[in-house]
Order: sequence, then structure tokens, then C-alpha cells
Amino acid sequence: MYILSFGLLLGLAAAAPQRGGRTGNGRQKATAQQQAAQVPQGVSTATDGSTIIDDTVNINNLPIRFRVSAPADQFLATTGIPGAAATSPNGTMGVNVLLHGDGGQSFFDFPNQAVQANTMGVALLAPDPNLFWGGGAGLERTDGVAHAQAVSTFVTDALPQMLAFNSSAVSFTGVSGGSLLMSGFFIPAQMQNFPNSAVLLNCGGLAPQVDFVDAATVMQQTTIHFQSTQSELQSLQQSIPQAVTAYEQAAAQQGLSADQINALQTVDNTPNGGHCEFDGQDFVSGVQVMANSFSNVVQPGGDGIVTGIGAPSNGQVKTGVVGNENLQFVGGKKRDALPVEKRWVVVNDDP
Ligand SMILES: *[C@@H]1O[C@H](CO)[C@@H](O)[C@H](O)[C@H]1NC(C)=O
Ligand SMILES: *[C@@H]1O[C@H](CO)[C@@H](O)[C@H](O)[C@H]1NC(C)=O
Repeated sequence: MYILSFGLLLGLAAAAPQRGGRTGNGRQKATAQQQAAQVPQGVSTATDGSTIIDDTVNINNLPIRFRVSAPADQFLATTGIPGAAATSPNGTMGVNVLLHGDGGQSFFDFPNQAVQANTMGVALLAPDPNLFWGGGAGLERTDGVAHAQAVSTFVTDALPQMLAFNSSAVSFTGVSGGSLLMSGFFIPAQMQNFPNSAVLLNCGGLAPQVDFVDAATVMQQTTIHFQSTQSELQSLQQSIPQAVTAYEQAAAQQGLSADQINALQTVDNTPNGGHCEFDGQDFVSGVQVMANSFSNVVQPGGDGIVTGIGAPSNGQVKTGVVGNENLQFVGGKKRDALPVEKRWVVVNDDP
């Protein structure tokens, strides 16, 4: 059991920012993780009026900072959060758990904070000095196993101590490096813990790097959408189609027909734009456009329409993977590292 101490929560909101370390005459540059610690935790209000709590819990010796956005009455009364009213962790609303890209931008933007189709938003911050999900760099995510385990344990053990939610309606969103962890590690090793789940993999994909724990259950029940752009990073122009092919084959090995696979696994990279620029313009606004249409794209009954997606897409992104594994790209930046998106540091640690 992970005992959360919410007595601290309200105090943390006002806690003084920590300062980055220094050595000798020279300044020691704070890591991204240390800089993130300067952004205060606490309670705030979401774009749709939901209540956001931002706090950190220790999971398997990894510090997992989280943001949970929910109607206030869905928090357990025991948290002491204003308006919290739930008396049991068994709720009726689902959750959409987001893993940010390298540098943590989408954790702080929290593009899934508004309730959508009865689904509440959660975002987790990578327990890594660089804020890379899976650690390592580029396509080599050397801490992928441990990070995937921590995400799973957070949702199954820590989240029910603060929020009432439907544990049979847990879905996920990856952004860039977060999509690498989801597809490379989390789906094969942890998704059996989340029945009938769905994953929106934005601007990143990696074939499974570890064995499936329960391939039959996971491949028969999990909805996966791969979303990219025409001018994706060149390294991902290789790894996303490899991931699409690997997941399609994993489903076929479990006896799913082409039609069954296409109903569960879809792919699109029609918008013009670079890495994560799904609206044809920018990383942040592009990720927001996909988050706004999460339910349409991966939840049951979704029509596949993404409002605001970049031209020349007609808005419909649900194209079955079978026969469409070989995505066509145009140009794209050639670099081994994924771009670090870190526009969120608002605290100036200069004296
Ligand atoms: C919550 O649901 C689980 C599984 O359905 C059940 O075992 C448990 O008793 C429920 N707990 C409460 C407090 O209702
Ligand atoms: C939980 O979600 C599942 C899957 O969507 C649904 O079948 C079930 O009715 C939900 N349970 C509650 C209590 O809302």
C-alpha cells in the first residue's frame, strides 16, 4: 500500500521554490527534474472547472509526480481536498493517463485536464533527471521496464487512494518519448492490468522491447491509434512503422482477423508538419488538438474525427493498420535525440 499524506497537500502549494545547486565558482546547471521541482505543487482549477491536484508519491523507490484533474466530488473525502465527497474508490468515471514527451512539456500543459466523455485526466512526470519517460535517450529507453511498472502501480495502487474511478475504464495517451514507453514497454508488460483499454500514441512508436505478459488478453482488448505527421523526425519515420507492423503481427498471432485488427489498431500521418505538429503549426497546439479529440479517436463509438488537425487531412484519422503499415513521409529532421520540449520553466533561479 502507498499511503498518501494529503495533510501536506495544501501546505505544498505555498512551499518556497527550491534552488538549483552550485559548486565552487561555477554554476551547476540544474537538471530538468530539479527545475521541475521549482514549479509549485498543490491545488488549482482546470480549464473546465475541475479540481487539479499536483503532488508526488513514491512508487517502488521512484518519485512519481502526478496531476489529477476531476470534478471535486470525485476525490475521496479522506483527501481533505475542498469539495471531495467520494466514500469508495469504485467510481463511474474513467481516466485518461498521459505520459509526456522528453522534457515534460505536456505534463505542465496537461492537455487532457478537461473531462471528456466521462473520462477524467491524469498526467505523470517521468522519474528521470532529464524528464525522459523510460530514461536513456533517443530510441534507447534503458529504464523502460521500471518506469512502465511504476506507471501501472500508480494507477492500480496510488490513484484509488485519492480518486473514485472506474478501474475498467482506464485509458492512456503518449506524447513523443511517452509514446515510446507506452508502445515499447507498457503495453506488452503492463496493459493486462487494464482491461478494454485504449492508447493514443502521439508522435512516437516503438515495437515491443519486452515480452508480452498476456498477449491474448492485451491484443484482443486494447485499442491503439498511432498518430504522426508527414515530416516526422527521421528516427521515428523508421520506428513508428516498425511498431505498427509489430502490433499488427502480435494481434494476428492471437488469431484476430484483418477486420478485427483494423477495428482495434489505426494509424494516420496525413497532416503536414514536423514532430507532434498535428495542427500543422506547433508542438503544444498540435498535442492539444489530439487531446481534444481523444474520445473520438480511441474510445468506443468514437467517429475518428479530429477537429483542428492540419491540412491536408480531412479530419478522419481512423485508418486501419492492415495494408497501411508503410507510412509515407516527406523530409523531417534528422537527429538521434528526440526534441526536448521544455518551455514550462517559469521560476527564474537567478538571484
Ligand atoms: C470495489 O470494487 C471491487 C471490485 O469490483 C470490489 O471487490 C470492492 O469490494 C469494491 N469496494 C467498495 C468499497 O465498494
Ligand atoms: C466501467 O466501465 C466499463 C467499461 O466501459 C463499463 O462496462 C462499466 O459499466 C463501468 N462501470 C461503472 C460502475 O460505471
